[in-house]
Order: sequence, then C-alpha cells, then structure tokens
Amino acid sequence: MWQLSVPFLFAFHSLASTQAPETLQFVHTLYRHGDRSPIRTFPADQHQEDTWPQGFGQLTQIGMRQEFELGLWLRKRYSNFISSEYLRDQIYVRSTDYDRTLMSAQSVLAGMFQPNSDQIWNPKIPWQPIPVHTKPRFEDWLLLDPPCPVLDRLKEERNASEEELSMERQYSSILSVINNYTQANLTSIFQIGYIMDALLCERRNNRKSPEWLSDTMISAWYDHILPVSSRHSNQDPIQRKLLGGVIVGEMINEWRLQLENITEKRQLKMMMYSAHDSTVMKLLFALDVFNRRSVPYSACVMIELHYSNQLGNFVQIWLKNDTISQPDFRQQIAHQLQIKGCELNCPLDKFVNLMKPIIPIDRYRDCHVDTEAVSSDTRDILIALFVSLGLASAVAVAIICFAIRKHSPRHRARNFGRMRAEQIPEEVPMMLNADDDDDEI
Ligand SMILES: *[C@@H]1O[C@H](CO)[C@@H](O)[C@H](O)[C@H]1NC(C)=O
Ligand SMILES: *[C@@H]1O[C@H](CO)[C@@H](O)[C@H](O)[C@H]1NC(C)=O
Ligand SMILES: *[C@@H]1O[C@H](CO)[C@@H](O)[C@H](O)[C@H]1NC(C)=O
Ligand SMILES: *[C@@H]1O[C@H](CO)[C@@H](O)[C@H](O)[C@H]1NC(C)=O
Ligand SMILES: *[C@@H]1O[C@H](CO)[C@@H](O)[C@H](O)[C@H]1NC(C)=O
Repeated sequence: MWQLSVPFLFAFHSLASTQAPETLQFVHTLYRHGDRSPIRTFPADQHQEDTWPQGFGQLTQIGMRQEFELGLWLRKRYSNFISSEYLRDQIYVRSTDYDRTLMSAQSVLAGMFQPNSDQIWNPKIPWQPIPVHTKPRFEDWLLLDPPCPVLDRLKEERNASEEELSMERQYSSILSVINNYTQANLTSIFQIGYIMDALLCERRNNRKSPEWLSDTMISAWYDHILPVSSRHSNQDPIQRKLLGGVIVGEMINEWRLQLENITEKRQLKMMMYSAHDSTVMKLLFALDVFNRRSVPYSACVMIELHYSNQLGNFVQIWLKNDTISQPDFRQQIAHQLQIKGCELNCPLDKFVNLMKPIIPIDRYRDCHVDTEAVSSDTRDILIALFVSLGLASAVAVAIICFAIRKHSPRHRARNFGRMRAEQIPEEVPMMLNADDDDDEI
C-alpha cells in the first residue's frame, strides 16, 4: 500500500512538461536569472574579478542555456495557450534593471519564440527580437525592494534569535577557519554567504576550489545555517505585505482587468517577470508556500488563473525548481503548492480573501508610517472602501487612490528626488548574507 500511495501522491502534486489544461485563463511567471559569476569575493581569492570574462554579477553561458531551456519548457507547457508565433498582445515581459536578469529574459524568449514561417527575418539566426521592459532600480517596488524604513526597523529589532545565537557558537570554529584563509574578517557565521556563493560559482564554472573548502563546510551552510538565517524566517505579516504582497496585489489587479474585460479585445495571457532569488522568495513568503530551500538558478514560479464550469475561477501555484539536477527541460517537473487554508485548486474569492491582509494599498506609505505624517482619514476611508466594495469595484477604488495620490504633494515628492540612485546599495548576495538583506542575487 505504502509503496503504491507515495508515487501516486507525487504524481498528483507534480507536473512534467505537459501542456496546461484548457481551463487556463491567465498566467504570471516569475523566474530567477541563470548561472552567474560571483557578486563579489574575498581578498585572498585566487579568482578575482578580472578572471571572469564580463566581471562580477554577470550571466554566464551556463546561465544562458538554463534560461533557454526554461523558455523551451514554457513553450511546451503553454503550447495550447500562447501562440507559437510571437504575438505582442499576448505576453508582457518585465525584468529588473540588472544585466543578468535582462539577459535571462532574452534567453528565455529565445527558447520560447523561435521564429517560424512568416516570422523568420534572417534564415541564419533562429531568433527574433522581443521587447523586455524594465524600471530603474530605485522605482522598482514590484520586483526589487527600494529602501523601506519600517522593514529596516523590524530587521534591527530581531537580529539575533536564540536559534541563531546557538548556531554562532556551534559553527565558530568553521568561522575562524574561513577568516584565516579568506582574510575577510567576518564577525558572524551568517556573513559567510557571499564567500560560499563565490566559491560555488567558481566551482560550477570549472575553476579550482581552494583546498580548505570542505563538503562539511558547504553542507553546514546550505543545510543548517542558511535555513535559520533571519532572511529565511522572515514571514510575519508586515514583511509579507511590504515585500511579496506588492506582487500579489499586482497579480490580482491583472486578473480583475482580465475578468472584467475592461480593455476591449483584451488579448494578454501571460505576464513574465525576470528577477532574483529574493524576488521568488518574497513572493512565496507572501503566499505562505515557501519551502525554505534556496532558490536555484532559473527556478520559476507559475501562478495560473483557471476557469471551469464546476469550480468557477480558481488559482493554481506551481514551482519548478529542479533546473540544477535536470538541465534538460524535457525532464523537468513543476510542483504544485498549496496555500494554507485553501484547496490545491484555490477558488479565486477565497484566494483574494486569504491574501487581503498582506496586500499593501500604498507600499510607500506603509514603509514610512512613522517617518512622515500620514493623513489617516483618507487612508481609513480608502481601506473601508476597498474592503467593502470587494472584487468588482476595486478597480474604481484604485482609480480614486491613484487620483488622490497624484494630486498630493507627497506623491510628487516621491517621484522627484526622494530616493536617489546612490541610495540603492551595491548588489551583494542578499539571502546568503544576513548583513546585506536589501540586495539582490
Ligand atoms: C542586535 O541589534 C541591536 C540593536 O541594533 C545591537 O545592539 C546588537 O548588537 C545586535 N545583536 C547582534 C547579535 O547582532
Ligand atoms: C591558517 O592559514 C594558514 C595558511 O594561510 C595555514 O597554514 C594554517 O594552518 C591555518 N590555520 C588554521 C587554524 O586553519
Ligand atoms: C581584515 O583585516 C586586515 C587587518 O586589519 C586588513 O588588512 C584587511 O583589509 C581586512 N579585510 C577586509 C576584507 O576588510
Ligand atoms: C471580452 O471582450 C472580447 C472582445 O470584445 C470578447 O470577444 C470576449 O468574449 C469578452 N470576454 C468576456 C469574458 O466577456
Ligand atoms: C522543490 O520544491 C518542492 C516543493 O516545495 C520541494 O518538495 C523540493 O524539495 C524542492 N526541490 C529543490 C531541489 O529545492
């Protein structure tokens, strides 16, 4: 019995690169960039930045192939849904403003839309140009995390859980070995992330590892320290709201437009986001389905809106995370994730109700609650409206919010000069480094 039921369950929750069912109405895909060079490295590393063809933080050829395979996988999964001929009205692609995510998006699209017949414009190149949109980093509230004082304060308040402190004691000898060989002068075991990241990037790209790097060290990091690091346990409602909640809110808005057919002849079927492991994590945290494992290169989340006569509108969440163990897209499998308190096929109304508490109405305002006067009257009225009017009228509320914000001096201040590009920290491994929480990897 036992042997029979386990594979059965597995089959139920997983999906090879089969086609999406005909109930599909709309899909959001969000993926991590492919293999990259290290973001930075330690002083004693023999492989410094000049040993990488394009320097630090760049997509490698391995990474290009991983993303291309993802494009082939998506092509296959959505072959009944998205035209194999590229149609500009069906898909909208947005990337963070980083070289490696922009290049990843282009690699995915190269796999997904190889031109055929009429779209062949140069017989020597099985490729066609497809637009990838982006936003400056300091304005990208959706996929990145521009400065947020409320989150910073939260982070300061809970830097050292008992679990973390005991881990510091347990791994202090590993820390001193690493400090000795790297000359990185780390003060906490949770800071070794960027070093492990650099060493593993080198290894994946056939560069020689130093003798002192042991498997014990790697598994101590991946299996024990990383899952406990504060980043990985960040899932209280405020963090969920001010991080991934923004994406969930955007998705629901998109579905509304879709369901209400607001734009005539609306053809859009897929929103595609090219981003970072931090983006994938914050979305999974917001949905409360994160497995607390590190997010591999080219991992992809698919959030699908379906409709059937029996169930009405319902939501499915899928995670494809086997890109490292299965480089060939034909072998890759997606896992269906279940939201707590909902079915695997989660009815749309229920989904929206479960997510309501973590969707920010104004992320900027919620990030600066104590740092500037907020007109609480306006805010309360808007919240009351939003809650009471429900799904059908929320678009109208959004328009009102937008109009009010547009005319407030604060809104103008936000767009002009409040945040400058220099305030965005240089990117360093974020999830891997408890000290560099705001950066992307
Ligand atoms: C935690 O944060 C407080 C306040 O910011 C600081 O004084 C303390 O040293 C920090 N503790 C650790 C273990 O980092
Ligand atoms: C520290 O590093 C030196 C070489 O840089 C090595 O000879 C020595 O054994 C190391 N000590 C420890 C405690 O790892
Ligand atoms: C570590 O400390 C040594 C000695 O103070 C210094 O020379 C070195 O630059 C420091 N390394 C880093 C990465 O700060
Ligand atoms: C949306 O509008 C298009 C074009 O006007 C129409 O063909 C389609 O049936 C509408 N869909 C729904 C769900 O109303
Ligand atoms: C992929 O995600 C599933 C579902 O959360 C999980 O069971 C599995 O261990 C993950 N695999 C990897 C390689 O992270």
